[in-house]
Amino acid sequence: MAQPPYILAIDQGTTSTRCILFDSSATPVTTAQREFPQHYPNGGWVEHDPEDIWRDTVAVMREAVANARVDVKDVAAIGITNQRETVVVWERATGRPVHNAIVWQDRRTAETCARLKASGAEQMVNEKTGLLLDPYFSATKLAWILDNVSGARAAAERGELAFGTIDSFLLSRLTRGKVHATDPTNAGRTLLFDIVRQQWDEELLKLFDIPASLLPRVEDNSHVFGHSDPDILGRAIPIAGMAGDQQAALFGQGCFNPGMAKSTYGTGCFLLMNIGDKPVLSKNRMLTTPAYRLNGQTTYALEGSIFVAGAAVKWLRDGLKIITRASQTHDMATRVPDSHGVYMVPAFVGLGAPYWNPDARGLICGLTLGSTDAHLARAALESVAYQTKDLIDAMTADAGPSAAALRVDGGMAANDWLCQFLADILDAPVERPSIVETTAMGAAFLAGLATGVWPDIGAIGRIWHRERRFDPAMEEGDRTSMVDGWRGAVRRALLA
Ligand code: G3P
Repeated sequence: MAQPPYILAIDQGTTSTRCILFDSSATPVTTAQREFPQHYPNGGWVEHDPEDIWRDTVAVMREAVANARVDVKDVAAIGITNQRETVVVWERATGRPVHNAIVWQDRRTAETCARLKASGAEQMVNEKTGLLLDPYFSATKLAWILDNVSGARAAAERGELAFGTIDSFLLSRLTRGKVHATDPTNAGRTLLFDIVRQQWDEELLKLFDIPASLLPRVEDNSHVFGHSDPDILGRAIPIAGMAGDQQAALFGQGCFNPGMAKSTYGTGCFLLMNIGDKPVLSKNRMLTTPAYRLNGQTTYALEGSIFVAGAAVKWLRDGLKIITRASQTHDMATRVPDSHGVYMVPAFVGLGAPYWNPDARGLICGLTLGSTDAHLARAALESVAYQTKDLIDAMTADAGPSAAALRVDGGMAANDWLCQFLADILDAPVERPSIVETTAMGAAFLAGLATGVWPDIGAIGRIWHRERRFDPAMEEGDRTSMVDGWRGAVRRALLA
């Protein structure tokens, strides 16, 4: 009897490159991971060496397959998910990058964005892309490379260079330069892609001064993009799914119906809510973004990002030094009955959605002589829930009520106390999946759908299982006064 197939998911993130081999019940069999160097050549600049990323990708692919001791002929497909917005430009003839990758966190094009904003371009950009004029997205970074690498713009005009986000760069390398393509979730973060018409847009290309010859083809998320070079794993394997990491997590969380939402708690937090087949534009400074495109049909999501979630706990450990391990915050938070009126607004790098204020600064308020380290730890965790509430409220105002529950993942989702407090503050259930590798799983699902491992998203939805559900248990009056206290603290942080 034939062995049920496996799927190899590459998860190329901001600080590490991982590969997970899933079996056909979407259970991870092996994981391999490498961290890679970050480069900060100037204040606010962040770069990656694409060759590091490529070398690590090949290494983790080989390691994940070798450790599983599976026959490579049983690996049915490869899926790719990636840090989004990060820009790579390479020579078509050699595959050689002309510059380091400019990472999504990089702020070097802030002035360009401010200038474009002042020229009144933001409304047109927002209507076409669902995004805002911010250096976070790819277009101004790509223009920076063309304008700052000697000869790059002329080479681009001659059609000699290729642009891609990391998915596209890896696809090109994996296929030995044969395929230059991306998917709508990555294209939709460049500021160059019309998310309604699902195509690169001439007016946007003109605004950002980008030659169209640089651009990859945009294919459905679940699609056989090409085959991996046999030298990599000993056999050509279809690369059959690609999606930006947050959209992949939405898919991996099985959020296939409008109103279903997931929130990933890492260093920051990305909350995406499925809004169905209409790209509703936000009136509350959320982003509108393609969630996935299957058989030419696009499903959209609203997205809100919080810059500091786990990073607040890291600051308790490395800055304040009141804990030695992040997991201690769970016990500290439960040691006290409440935060004793203490609020922490972790605006260490400004505030993201829905405030989008780069100048806001962090704040701890409500301190008394009775305040302790436990209250601070609790206030840090509580800030994550309050910020999530801000996002959910903004999304609900834009798209109507969310579905019954918020699905959570990422490191902080392991904290039971936080999940319960989140349910209390949202006044909605919070669900944690049994398999928390939702990002890689989303890429595996997309690849498996295109290669017949799973017949349709219904089958995938049935694979998702809840490990635990947290139901709201807080009195309405308590919730209101706590949220009011938070909003007051945010107002002060915005003045800071
Ligand atoms: O938009 C940036 C996001 O895709 C980065 O995700 O998990 O690599 O920090 P991560």
